[in-house]
Amino acid sequence: MAEQPRADLITPDTHGPRTHTCGDLRAEHEGEEVILKGWVDTRRDHGGLVFVDLRDRYGLTQVVFSPQDNEAAYEAAGRLRREDVISVRGVVRPRGEEMINPDLATGQIEVKAQELNVLNTAETPPFLVSAHEERQMDTNEDLRLKHRYLDLRRPALQDNLELRHRLYRTTRRYFDDNDFVEVETPVLMKSTPEGARDFLVPSRLQPGRFYALPQSPQTYKQLLMVGGMDRYVQIVKCFRDEDLRADRQPEFTQIDVEMTFATEEQVYDLTEGLMADLWADLEDTALETPFPRMTYEEALHTYGTDKPDLRFDLKLHDVSDTFDGSGFRVFQSIIDDGGHILALRVPDAGDTGRAAMDRLEEYVTGEIGAAGLIYFQFPSDGSGMTQNLSTDAMPKEYGRAAAEEIGAGTGDLMLVLAGQAPTVHEQAGQLRLHLGEELGLRPDPGTGPDQFVWITDFPLVEYDEEAGRYVSMHHPFTAPRPEDLDALDENPEAVTARAYDLVLNGNEIGGGSIRIHNRSTQERVFDLLGIGPEEAQERFGFLLDAFRYGAPPHGGIALGLDRLVMLLAGADSLRDVIAFPKNQSGQEPMVKSPDWVDPEQLEELHLRLDLPPDVEPPAHVARHTRLAS
Ligand code: AMO
Repeated sequence: MAEQPRADLITPDTHGPRTHTCGDLRAEHEGEEVILKGWVDTRRDHGGLVFVDLRDRYGLTQVVFSPQDNEAAYEAAGRLRREDVISVRGVVRPRGEEMINPDLATGQIEVKAQELNVLNTAETPPFLVSAHEERQMDTNEDLRLKHRYLDLRRPALQDNLELRHRLYRTTRRYFDDNDFVEVETPVLMKSTPEGARDFLVPSRLQPGRFYALPQSPQTYKQLLMVGGMDRYVQIVKCFRDEDLRADRQPEFTQIDVEMTFATEEQVYDLTEGLMADLWADLEDTALETPFPRMTYEEALHTYGTDKPDLRFDLKLHDVSDTFDGSGFRVFQSIIDDGGHILALRVPDAGDTGRAAMDRLEEYVTGEIGAAGLIYFQFPSDGSGMTQNLSTDAMPKEYGRAAAEEIGAGTGDLMLVLAGQAPTVHEQAGQLRLHLGEELGLRPDPGTGPDQFVWITDFPLVEYDEEAGRYVSMHHPFTAPRPEDLDALDENPEAVTARAYDLVLNGNEIGGGSIRIHNRSTQERVFDLLGIGPEEAQERFGFLLDAFRYGAPPHGGIALGLDRLVMLLAGADSLRDVIAFPKNQSGQEPMVKSPDWVDPEQLEELHLRLDLPPDVEPPAHVARHTRLAS
């Protein structure tokens, strides 16, 4: 329904600049005449007075209109609605004892209004925007994104963006202090493999050819090292066309770093120094460095993931040997096929009731996709062990032996999963995280101590069954350990990379490596990845050529800036720390991107759409479209 515009309320601004923000005024300003400008957060009519909470980025100030002070202003104030923009001239006075709001920085005072200018009116917003609600993230997210300019008025989002700003500032200062130079690299570039799909940009001047948006500036930063820049940093947008999750956006920001003559230790040191500065500046916390380190293999075997959350224990134990010969056919065939039996000890869960265990089993088979869950319970009354397998299927001594091996006893629950590596480890890792949540062991984002860990000694490549070839664990420019070079041809999976990831509370916040700087090694790695000499020259000739002219050893890292801000802010999603993010379908509901373009634009680019039948273009685009049969 169309709203009354209330246009007659709007007046010219006769007040001049504001003297204070809505977060400034305190008891010591008593008696001062001030000018405030901002949005109407709330209005209350009360005992012949109108109270307005005036809001801006800095806070909230209570303004009181009374007919005795200014009849016209009082009348107009009575017609104000949420989100109207006003300017108030008035005098600061202390609030009555019982009106003091200790939760508000300006809660000691109010402004007694003498004049009101209504600078603009607002229609009823599609959702409530109020500083009084700390976190109002529950409104339908697409609606919030569609009206992001309203959403952004919320203090929680503004705080996140300010935090992000402070993170840029500390980061730039840190790298400047360490002799790094920020260099911009092209956004219209050529495809580099970081494991995702590229976003492509068609070229008008070179018909039929495409730029790719950088998945990262990886090759450019390496070329800057060949170019003698020595220490490079860039806060840079990266673009990856991949399935979205809470911690993934199609365009995101990295703190991208590269150093000539770098060793792993130097990269760890530099990164830890940055984290220490960030935590000191933004969290007022002294981080303990150096951070712990864990090999990829240990992480996978003990936590079932290469990004372990070390804030809680619940480790995985391989009890394959103990169950070997148990007679339980499912386990035996897995063991005989070289698989693994993994056990988790859940302390104080030995009395868990049947219904809860059924739900857990359902979760394991449904959500996690494991074939089944075997469990052993040790009730707290010391009555022994029960198992969800008949003793015919498996005599009890096997469960007892496994329990003893992993230290499970009275009052505990032991969960067992079986399968092939690495799937069974990943499944057990998921189960571990689920239990961490269920048992309240995993602190909510933004609470509890932060736990960093470096993951090291990644394999250089893994075999991709679907593609039928080896793929890089990081990217093709990662150096193998020199002592593993010989194995590159015979046993590539045994080659360890000089790569590392930085993990914080179970989130991968950075990754990097020491690079290959030698042409022949780079060619061998390309070859291993199924990129033959011709294709290598075609796609990466620029890099291979650069390696001919005195390329220095070099290495670096890239940190996920959005993820860092998300974790520092205690937010659940990257969307809460990016001003204008994309939704789950990769769209920006406010400006409606991606969008159809004019047929003339397609024509200039020599493009014609070839759409599946269920996608219907608007009429003006249709003539440039062929529907795929
Ligand atoms: P990598 O691909 O590991 O390394 O990326 C570095 C970090 O960027 C963050 N990140 C993302 N954040 C949000 N949305 C995404 N879609 C997304 N993808 C990655 C993660 C990740 O750890 N060129 C190499 C770095 C190097 O080798 O120096 C690279 O890009 O936090």
